Amino acid sequence: MIKQSATLISTTMSMLFISYFSIIIVLCFIQSSECVYNIDDSSGVGRIFDGIGGLSGGGATSRLLVNYAEPERSHILDYMFLPQFGASLHILKVEIGGDAQSTDGTESSHMHSPDDENYQRGYEWWLMKEAKKRNPSIKLYGLPWGFPGWIGNGNGSPYSNITMTVDYILRWMKGAQKYHGLYIDYIGIWNERIYNKGYIKLLKKTLNENGFEKTMLVASDNKWEISTDILQDTELAKAVDIIGIHYPGTKTTDDTLKTGKTIWSSEDYSTFNDEVGGGCWARILNQNYVNGNMTSTISWNLIASYYNALPYTRNGLMTANEPWSGHYDVDTPIWVSAHTTQFTQPGWNYLKHGSGAGHLDKGGSYVTIVNETQLTMIIETMSHDHSICIRPKLPAYNVTKQTATFHLKGTFSSIQSLNVWKSKFKYGGAKSEMFVQMQPVKVVNGEFTVNLDLDEIYTLTTSTAGKKGQYDEPPPSSPFPIIYSDNFDDYDEFSEGSNFADQSGVFEIRQSNDADHGLVMRQVAASYPVIWCQDSNSPVSFIGNSSWKDVSMSVDAFLEKDGTGVMVGARATNGGCKIHKSHGVFFWILSNGTYLLTADIDKLEVYTKGTVGVAKNKWFNIGLIVMERQATGSIDGRDIFTHSLYEDTVNGFLAIGTLTFAPSMFDNFNITATA
Ligand SMILES: *[C@@H]1O[C@H](CO)[C@@H](O)[C@H](O)[C@H]1NC(C)=O
Ligand SMILES: *[C@@H]1O[C@H](CO)[C@@H](O)[C@H](O)[C@H]1NC(C)=O
Ligand SMILES: *[C@@H]1O[C@H](CO)[C@@H](O)[C@H](O)[C@H]1NC(C)=O
Ligand SMILES: *[C@@H]1O[C@H](CO)[C@@H](O)[C@H](O)[C@H]1NC(C)=O
Ligand SMILES: *[C@@H]1O[C@H](CO)[C@@H](O)[C@H](O)[C@H]1NC(C)=O
Ligand SMILES: *[C@@H]1O[C@H](CO)[C@@H](O)[C@H](O)[C@H]1NC(C)=O
Ligand SMILES: *[C@@H]1O[C@H](CO)[C@@H](O)[C@H](O)[C@H]1NC(C)=O
Repeated sequence: MIKQSATLISTTMSMLFISYFSIIIVLCFIQSSECVYNIDDSSGVGRIFDGIGGLSGGGATSRLLVNYAEPERSHILDYMFLPQFGASLHILKVEIGGDAQSTDGTESSHMHSPDDENYQRGYEWWLMKEAKKRNPSIKLYGLPWGFPGWIGNGNGSPYSNITMTVDYILRWMKGAQKYHGLYIDYIGIWNERIYNKGYIKLLKKTLNENGFEKTMLVASDNKWEISTDILQDTELAKAVDIIGIHYPGTKTTDDTLKTGKTIWSSEDYSTFNDEVGGGCWARILNQNYVNGNMTSTISWNLIASYYNALPYTRNGLMTANEPWSGHYDVDTPIWVSAHTTQFTQPGWNYLKHGSGAGHLDKGGSYVTIVNETQLTMIIETMSHDHSICIRPKLPAYNVTKQTATFHLKGTFSSIQSLNVWKSKFKYGGAKSEMFVQMQPVKVVNGEFTVNLDLDEIYTLTTSTAGKKGQYDEPPPSSPFPIIYSDNFDDYDEFSEGSNFADQSGVFEIRQSNDADHGLVMRQVAASYPVIWCQDSNSPVSFIGNSSWKDVSMSVDAFLEKDGTGVMVGARATNGGCKIHKSHGVFFWILSNGTYLLTADIDKLEVYTKGTVGVAKNKWFNIGLIVMERQATGSIDGRDIFTHSLYEDTVNGFLAIGTLTFAPSMFDNFNITATA
C-alpha cells in the first residue's frame, strides 16, 4: 500500500516541476521507515499526564468576567470548564491575592492585616467554585505574587519570617476548604521570584501536619534553578513534588531530568490569542512533552477579562472584557485545548518517546496519551511563523506537507478504527476551521495513514467523546458607555465595583454604617505591599475607556483618618506594573484641607494647589471636568479651580484613588464622557 502511493505520488510529481520539496516527499516513501511511527506500549508507558490548565490571576486577569450578566457569564464559564464542550480544562490555577499589583491589576488578600481574615473577597473563590460545578474533578492550584505589607515585617520579603508566611498560605488553603469546600491540589511558592529552601521545607511539613498530605508542592514557578538545589539537598527533594518552569520554550535541563521529578510548564503561552497564538498553544501543548518531558502546561492567562489597554492584551485562551455589552470571543486556543482535554484525563500516561511521542520527519510533532482502555493521539504541524509564542525566541525550523503512517502495537494492535477531530489554521482573514469531527480512520493490520498539511491539528482517538460546544452569538461588541453611574448598592459585601480595575491597593464593596450611603466602595489595603512588581504609593483604581479625552466625573468621598486623601482622575495612563508612572489629570483632596491638581500619580508634577474647607468624617462630593486642555475641579458642586493642562495629556482611563494605604470610602460614582 505504501509502495503504491509512493508510485502514485512520484508519477503525479513528475508531472509537476521537481522541487526540493517534492523530492523530499518521494524519498520519504521510498525509505518508508522514515515516515512510519510506532505507537507501542510493549516496553511500558511514559510519564503520567497531569492535564492542561489555565491561570486566573497574576494579576486580575479575570477581573471583568464576574461582572457579566447571565446567560453570557455561564456560557463563557462553559467554554472554559464544561467537560466535552470547549477547552474542558483539567487544572485551574489561581493567584492567592496579595493586595499588590501583579501584572494587570491587584487582587485582594484574605488577610489585609495580621488580625484580619476573610474568605469572601474578590472573584477567585467564585471562579474555582464555578469550575468545580462544571467539572468536579478539575484540579486547583494556588500561587502568590505579592503579599500584604505586614507579611514582609517591613523588609519587603515573604521570607523575613517564614513561619508567618507559611501560616498565611495555610490559612488560605483552610479557608478554601472551610468556606467554599475547595481542596487545593497544588500549591506554589512565590511567582517568578526567589525561592527559599527553608520556606519550602517548612511549608511542606506544615501541609502534611494539617491534613494537606495530598497537596503537591510545585516549585519554583520560575526557571530551572531549583533542580540543582534538589539534587544537592535530599530534604528539599522530599518537599518538592513537581518542578514548575515558566516559558521553558519546550526545553528542559539535564539536572531537571536527573531529579526524577514530575516537570510542568506551570506558566506558558502569554501570546495574543489570534491564529498565531492558537498555533503557539498547539505547538507547546505537544512539544512541552516531546522536547521537555513536561506533563502539564498551564496558560497565562485563562481568559482575557481585563481592559485591552492594560498590559498583555488578549493573552488568554478566550476573551471576555466587555461586561457592559455582554460580548465575548471564543478564540482559537479554546479549540486547540479541546484537541487534548476532551479525549484524555489527568492520571493517564503519555507513551514513551519513539513509541508514541516524537517529532514528525517533515516537521511537527505527535503525542499519545492512554489509559488501560483508551488511546488518544494528538498531532500538530504548526509552521514556525504561525506558532511564535511571546517568549522565548523560537529557533528556525521547517514543516512541509507529509504523509505519516502509524503502526499500532502492543495493547493497541487490536484497534480497528479511530475517531478523528481536525483543526486547520487559516490566515489573512480566512476563517480557521477549528475542532471539526471527520470520518473515522480505519486501522488495517494495525496501520493507518494520515495526510498532513501545514498548520493543522489532528486528534485520533478510541474515545467516542468530543463535542464542539456552541451557544448563540453573544451580543455585539460596544464601547464602554459614555454615561455611566454606580451607587454600589447592588453588590455582595467584599466584592468589587463593576468595571473598576484596581491597579494599586484594593477597593472593596463595604457597609458604610450610614443609612444615606449603604454599601460603598472602600480602599482596604492596609499598607504598601510586599511587591511583585511596583505598586504606586497611592492606591488607585481605573475604569472606563482609555481612549477617552473629555470627561466629566464626580464621586462622593469620605475621609476616615488624618493624613489621608482621596483622588479622582482622568486620562490616566500606564496600568499594570507601570502604575507608579501613571500620568494624567489627578485631583486630590487631603484630610488637612489641601487640594492638589497633579499630572502624575506620584504628585511630583503639581499643576496647582490650594486649601479648601473640607472636614474629614463627613461625606462630600468631588468633581472633575477635563475638556481639551483644561481641567476644572469642584467640591460639593462649587468650582475651586480651572487650570490648563500639558499638551501631552491626551487620553486615558478614569481613576479614583486614595493618598495613602488607608481606608477611605466612595459612593455615587458618575461619569459623562465625550466619545
Ligand atoms: C514570626 O511569625 C510568627 C507567627 O506570626 C510569630 O509567632 C513569631 O514571633 C515571628 N518571629 C519573629 C522572629 O518575628
Ligand atoms: C525526556 O525526553 C527525551 C526527548 O527530549 C527522551 O529521549 C527521554 O526519554 C525523556 N526522558 C524521560 C525520563 O522522560
Ligand atoms: C479510561 O478512560 C475512559 C474515558 O474517560 C473511562 O471511561 C475508563 O473508565 C478509563 N479506564 C480506566 C481503566 O481508568
Ligand atoms: C528551511 O527550508 C529552507 C528552504 O528550503 C532552507 O533554506 C532552510 O535552511 C531550512 N531551515 C531549516 C532550519 O532547516
Ligand atoms: C473605547 O472607545 C473607542 C472609540 O469609541 C472604541 O473603539 C473602543 O472599543 C472603546 N474601548 C472600550 C474598552 O470601551
Ligand atoms: C497637608 O498634607 C500634605 C500631605 O501630607 C502636606 O504635604 C501638606 O503640607 C499639608 N498641608 C498643610 C496645610 O498642613
Ligand atoms: C450624573 O451627572 C450628571 C451631570 O452632572 C447628572 O445630570 C446626573 O443626574 C448624574 N447621575 C447620577 C445617577 O447621579
